[in-house]
Parts: sequence; C-alpha cells; structure tokens
Amino acid sequence: MGRTYNIVSIPGDGIGPETNGAAVRVLEAVAEKYGFEPRITEYKAGGCAIDAFGVPLPGETLHAAQDSDAVLLGAVGGPRWDMIEAERRPEQAILGLRQGMHLYANLRPATLQKELGDVSPLKDPGDIDLLIVRELTGGIYFGKQGSYKSSEKLFDGTRKGVIAFDTETYSEAEITRILRRGFEFAMKRRKKLTLVDKANVLNTSRFWRKIAQDLAPEYPEVEMEYLYVDNCSMQLVSRPSTFDVIVTSNMFGDILSDLAGQITGSVGLLPSASLGNPGMPGLFEPIHGSAPDIAGQKKANPIASILSVQLMLKLHLGEKDAAESISQAVRKTLAEGARTPDIAVHGDEGSKSKIILVNTDEMTDRIIANLE
Ligand code: IPM
Ligand code: MG
Repeated sequence: MGRTYNIVSIPGDGIGPETNGAAVRVLEAVAEKYGFEPRITEYKAGGCAIDAFGVPLPGETLHAAQDSDAVLLGAVGGPRWDMIEAERRPEQAILGLRQGMHLYANLRPATLQKELGDVSPLKDPGDIDLLIVRELTGGIYFGKQGSYKSSEKLFDGTRKGVIAFDTETYSEAEITRILRRGFEFAMKRRKKLTLVDKANVLNTSRFWRKIAQDLAPEYPEVEMEYLYVDNCSMQLVSRPSTFDVIVTSNMFGDILSDLAGQITGSVGLLPSASLGNPGMPGLFEPIHGSAPDIAGQKKANPIASILSVQLMLKLHLGEKDAAESISQAVRKTLAEGARTPDIAVHGDEGSKSKIILVNTDEMTDRIIANLE
C-alpha cells in the first residue's frame, strides 16, 4: 500500500463548502498524479453543526480531527447564528479545534504573485514575500473572560453599570515555543525576524520581548527587528517587501494577517497552516471567513483553500513535488488571466483586457488542468 493519509474535511458554512470542495478536488487530482491516497471523510462544524446537532463542534468531529493526519477546513459562521450565546457561536468550532488539537503555531504566508501585481491596492508593492507566525492557542482569545455588575462610577458620576472583560495571559513556555518556530522559519528563509507587540503598553508584550532577546543569541544569523503593532501595520503598507518572518501573539496575528492578505491582492488568496508539535495532526484553512454575502453564488476565490492543500502537502505530509505542482498550476492559471471577481476589481484598463472572469468551479478546473 502506497502513501495513504487520513484527511478530515470540514466544509463549514457560507462559501466554505464551495472553496473546500475545490480544495478537495485539487487534492484528489494531484494525489492521483503523484501516487498517494488521501482518504477523505467529511464532518460538520460551525453553524451547520449547530443546526444539525445543537453544538458548533460535535465530539465526533473533534475526535476524528484528533485521529486524522490532517484537517482541511472551509470556513464557519454567518448572520443566521449571530444571535446565539457566546459558547455556542460557530466560531467556537474553530477555536475548539485549535485548542483540542493543540495547534499553537499558525503560519500565514503572504506572497504577492507576480501575475497579480496590479491587483494589490498598493501603488508600488515590490516583492512581498512574508510569513506571519501567529500564536494560536493562548492570549486574549483563551484568557479569562466574563462580565459583572459594578457599583463604580465614571468621573462625571455616571454609573458604570455592567463591566465586561477579557484577559491576555501568556506563559513563558507558550511564548518560547512560538518564538522558536519564528526563528527556525527565519533561518530557512531570508533570516530576518520581526517581533510584533505592544511593549510600550502591555506587560505580556514586554515578556515576549524579553524572551525573544534571551533566545536571539542562539540564532546569531537572524537579524531581529522589534515593532509595535500600530507601527507595524503602517510599515506593512509602506515597506511590505522588507518583511521576512513576523512572529506575534494570537490577536495581533489575526489583525495583521488580514492586512497582509489585502496588500497581496485579496484575502481570497491566502492559505494558512496550523501546527502543533511534530507528529501531531495539522489543520489547513484559508485565512478568509465564510463570506455569507456571496455564499452559494460560485463567486468565491478557491485559491486560498487550494493553497492550503499545498501547505498541507509541503509542510506536513512531505509530498513536496505534489505541493510544487499546485503552486505552479496556480501561478500558470493566474498568468493565463483567470480571475474570480475579488481579484478582477483593481488594476488598470490595459491589464484588464486579458482578464478572463471565472467562477469558483471554472478557476478550480483550470488549476487542475494546469497541474504538472
Ligand atoms: C481567523 C479568523 C478567526 C480568528 C475567527 C473566525 C475565530 O478570523 O482565523 O483569522 O479570529 O482567529
Ligand atoms: Mg482573522
């Protein structure tokens, strides 16, 4: 028996089934070419699981994910479930999978494909090729939260009423393991690491900085840069090509990765990998959400999901040739002018002439046809 992988597919809500469906098709096609076998089983999570079972992350979905080699996730959430109480919101499915699978390292590469230079909203984007290493199972996302009624008053005598709170907590061990991932990726890339924090205000950020400074001598070849998150968002717009690896907390990574997605053309292009310790299953998903406004219309860009398969093959399953085949097919398809609506909107008139507007399925068909 050749190389067989147990893959759990979780299409989710909104455009999730469309983009994840595209990713599964590409996975099956590339597997056939490169002689391995993905055994794909589908499970529910998110809003559709709330509808079917009353909970966003059914136990059988989590257990299947924990027992798999890798999980391919679409997207979850939508206005239909927005009124549900916090613990049962669709987003809890993603957070529960991240926590339940111990996926503390979230990798979000943002590369400006040459063919899409005119799609970036930046006038002169340069060669953007950066990797955000986002801590994924700690910080304010998983800290103590709650609310209580207070008898305190504001300075002008107004009663504060109810107070809601979230807490940012990070342990030395959590910070150290994600920083090491950042240093290791920097060593394999252009050897520059930017730690993004808010050390001028936050205690946790100062702790990140101290640990980074303590670890830095172990990686003498890596050039360190320290940026406050507000400044970093500005620098990502003004000098994006100077970034190599960015390592940061859960919350800051969430925000900066959407920004990185937009400057490289569209959030519809960016994949992500969530990993735990070596040997544990990983989860692969686009960074975009469920986009309920365009769900079911075949308008969604499947490239972020398809490149998530590429990351799964390259970083996790060791199928490097198959991964390269997908990257190459995506580049070729874009070079041929195929554009879903999200990447056909910017650009000057000259370049628009060779644009072929396609839907989700057509983009996927073209990419499959271009696999080598
Ligand atoms: C992301 C998403 C999630 C996050 C949501 C859906 C919980 O925005 O993966 O970036 O905030 O991490
Ligand atoms: Mg996000």
